[in-house]
Amino acid sequence: SNESRAEKVFRGTFVHSTQNEAVQILEDTVLGVDKEGKISFLGRADEVKQLSQTWEFQLSDIRQLKQGEFFMPGMVDTHIHAPQYSYAGTALDLPLLQWLNKYTFPVEKQYRNAKFAEDTYTKVVKRTLKNGTTTACYFATIHTDTSLLLGEIADRFGQRALVGKVCMDRNEAVIDYKESTKESVEETKRFIYELLKRKYPQVKPIITPRFAPSCSEELLHSLGQIAKSNDLHIQSHISENREEVALVKNMFPACSSYTDVYREYNLLTSKTVMAHGCHLTDKELEMFKTSGAAISHCPNSNISLCSGMLDVRRVLKHNVKLGLGTDVAGGYSPSMLDAIRRALDTSKALKIQNPGYETVSYKEFFRLSTLGGSQALSLDDTIGNFEVGKDFDAVLISPSVPDSPFDVFESDTTENILEKFLNLGDDRNIVEVYVAGNRVVPFEKSA
Ligand code: GUN
Ligand code: ZN
Repeated sequence: SNESRAEKVFRGTFVHSTQNEAVQILEDTVLGVDKEGKISFLGRADEVKQLSQTWEFQLSDIRQLKQGEFFMPGMVDTHIHAPQYSYAGTALDLPLLQWLNKYTFPVEKQYRNAKFAEDTYTKVVKRTLKNGTTTACYFATIHTDTSLLLGEIADRFGQRALVGKVCMDRNEAVIDYKESTKESVEETKRFIYELLKRKYPQVKPIITPRFAPSCSEELLHSLGQIAKSNDLHIQSHISENREEVALVKNMFPACSSYTDVYREYNLLTSKTVMAHGCHLTDKELEMFKTSGAAISHCPNSNISLCSGMLDVRRVLKHNVKLGLGTDVAGGYSPSMLDAIRRALDTSKALKIQNPGYETVSYKEFFRLSTLGGSQALSLDDTIGNFEVGKDFDAVLISPSVPDSPFDVFESDTTENILEKFLNLGDDRNIVEVYVAGNRVVPFEKSA
């Protein structure tokens, strides 16, 4: 039988981004998904007869979307702390370094407990999936076994994920929330080995030094080596607030900048994603560009902790790969729709400060939340838009659910509906979510 036969066929409106178009709207289109979950074809409805012969499907098996509904690519959260979800929406009254010591480290310490971890990790995976996050790049905690549990739970609910066991061998604030250098290195190796052994199709490990101030030079060096010899993804934090930048300058006097610290230890690669980057210099942005490393823009967190405002226009001008992140729980919202809105607010605040500033449009943030995120995580060969050959990671948006948070009028175009959804919509409008062709929302009744 035909290996590439279409297993699922949808007909209706598809909205996605391409390199040239931040929002491309494909009306009355047919899209086929093969049994591997990959997009096998994308064609105009007037070609449907021909397509059905080539891809061996019955016209009666086509799923016709309703008027006003559309598919968009699943959103990519390029930076989220799964354990911090337990206190999301609270504790936002201190700047970063004090916030970490007072709230974050004491909570993360509790994830030695598998029961506690199972509860939070199940909730955060379900919550983000319901909100259209088909791919999440997670920080877990320093605990290997519950970090593996996060991978297991993402796999159980069908979310695509990069999962990092956090590494930190420096922490004066909270006893028992750090590792010895040796332990951090050994446990990272065990984490990678164990996670890869489980062969979850959509869940991969990512090397995760918390950030330079919580790592010794020896640990940074070892993590760079491990990433290099196994060709792994890397994530950390950079230049989030000014006090942190000054601290790094003091702690690493031999390095010319914060970015140079990560570069020095082989942690700035084309598979690296660094959260924040609010206070990077042009020279540092050039180092990002040269290395192919990406930035995760986490606007809710940057505002909530008063860290800074990332100038997205400037990052884009430097041609640095860029995605959006929720940074739960420095950011209080687990929804990527919120990340888009806060990113728009930040861009407009920059214009209020400087009327000559060229703001970034909602269409560009739509791209950053989907295709941009996939590029930031070096997954754009697999996900990010509806290109034939990529996995079908998608969310079905309905503007006309009974309790919709916005209204549609006769004169509204698909573009208007998209803009209303991005500004006003929520998980009520996200009626179905697909990862690699599998429908993962609504959840199975047993879940
Ligand atoms: N820098 C180091 N650790 C963290 C964290 O958990 N959250 C944020 N926002 N910044 C960090
Ligand atoms: Zn973070």
